[in-house]
Order: sequence, then C-alpha cells, then structure tokens
Amino acid sequence: MPSVFITGANRGIGLEFARQYSNAGWQVVLANRTPMAPKDFASLGMDVTEFHYDAMDDATAADIAKRLKGRPIDVAILNAGIDDQPDLPPELVTAEIWERAMLTNTFAPLHLAALLEPNLRIGQHKVLAAVSSLAASSTYTVPRQFAYRASKASLNQMWRNLSVDWKDWGAICLTLRPGRVKTRMTGFEGDLTPSESVSGLRRVIETATPAESGKLWGYDGQVVPW
Ligand SMILES: NC(=O)c1ccc[n+]([C@@H]2O[C@H](COP(=O)([O-])OP(=O)(O)OC[C@H]3O[C@@H](n4cnc5c(N)ncnc54)[C@H](OP(=O)(O)O)[C@@H]3O)[C@@H](O)[C@H]2O)c1
Repeated sequence: MPSVFITGANRGIGLEFARQYSNAGWQVVLANRTPMAPKDFASLGMDVTEFHYDAMDDATAADIAKRLKGRPIDVAILNAGIDDQPDLPPELVTAEIWERAMLTNTFAPLHLAALLEPNLRIGQHKVLAAVSSLAASSTYTVPRQFAYRASKASLNQMWRNLSVDWKDWGAICLTLRPGRVKTRMTGFEGDLTPSESVSGLRRVIETATPAESGKLWGYDGQVVPW
C-alpha cells in the first residue's frame, strides 16, 4: 500500500487529508502537536501511526525522522500552519509574531522536508507537498496578514528551490492552495468544506509529474501565479 505523511492532521484540512487517504487504503503517518481526538483516530483505517510533532521544536522532527528511518514515504503533505492575529495593521506587527510565523510556516516545513528526503527518495510517488495559500500570491488583494503572507511566499520560494535541488532524483515539490476553507483558521467561514478542498488537492497530487514541480497548485487544478 502507498504511504502518506501528514503534519497538523488533528483538525481542519490535515484531518481531512488523513480521512481521505485512509479511506483510499493508504498507510497513514500523522505528525501532530495536539493528538488526534480518539473518535477521529478510531474512524481511520488500521494502518495509521501518530507521532508527536511541534513545528517550533526541532527535536520532535528529528525524533520522527529517526523512527521512520528506512521506511519509504510516497507522499508527504506538510500542512501544519498558523495565521496569528491576521487583522493587525502594519505598525502592530511585532518581531515575535513575525518570527513565529516564519518558523512555523516556512522553516519547519523546510527542515522536516530535509529530514524526510531519504524516505521520499525510496518512495514510489516522490511527492513533497506543502500547504501554502493564495495569500502568498502577488494577485491577492485582501489587506493585512503581513507575517502570514510573507511566510507563505517564502514557503513557495523554498519549495521552488527544492524542486531544483532535488530534480535529479525525481522529487515532485508542490505548493498547494486549498481555497478558502471552513476550518478553525477561518472561523469556520469560507467557500469550501475541507472535503471539497482536499478532494481537489488529492487530484493535483495524484496526477502530478516532475513537470509540475516547483509551482503553486490550486484545489481546482489551476496553477496560481505568485
Ligand atoms: N483554511 C483555509 O482557508 C486555508 C487557506 C489557505 C491555506 N491554509 C493552510 O492550510 C493549512 C491547514 O490549515 P487549516 O485551515 O486546517 O487550519 P487549522 O484548523 O487551524 O489547523 C492548523 C493545523 O496546524 C497545526 N499547527 C499549528 N501550529 C503548529 C505547530 N507549532 N506544530 C505542529 N502543528 C501545528 C494545528 O495543530 P494544533 O491543533 O496543535 O494547534 C492544526 O493541526 C495551514 O498551513 C494553513 O495556512 C488554510
């Protein structure tokens, strides 16, 4: 069975990825800061492993890499992210808010990707996906979200870098735009349910080839310019 690795899968978009891959019969490896609720965990298939992962604590990433040593990962979805105090005007954005956004949304996925490289290399699909946002695009005209937008734009650039660095072994490095999805991050407001968004994103992942590497892909299968 193919295997998928997902961060931030205890709720929202990550939980829906876990559900859909599990329903499709995949081996599912979860990396969560807050453990998945027992009822959600029980609703997944038999082949599910959950590790403790805190994007702000490198030791948790190192521990996961150690435990997964030698195990192929076909698809990794680095989904965990934050959007703290999105409405702050520029004069109130602090270095602390900025640092937390950059560490969680940009550095932590890059660091984890590097640790999982050996697992992806021996996987069949070789897909390394990071959940980004339309907010990272220069076409986005909604104001504020300063730290979040910077962190996701940097994430896109890091993934493009990886697509160049890891081209030789066939890595498919995708950044994903989920759309505006009804999760805790959006106050459960939005245009899409997690199920609708993740169904579209899974199609993108499933059909991706090395030619698609390094681009930002929408849930609707469209490339998003950034
Ligand atoms: N919802 C949208 O409309 C939308 C749009 C564009 C992009 N996105 C992106 O989609 C991804 C998932 O967001 P969501 O909408 O599902 O939001 P969510 O319900 O708020 O889920 C966020 C997830 O990230 C985890 N997380 C946050 N900080 C973490 C840390 N330090 N270490 C480990 N895990 C951490 C959370 O875990 P805890 O429960 O432990 O906090 C939770 O599992 C994010 O990257 C977000 O930026 C969402």
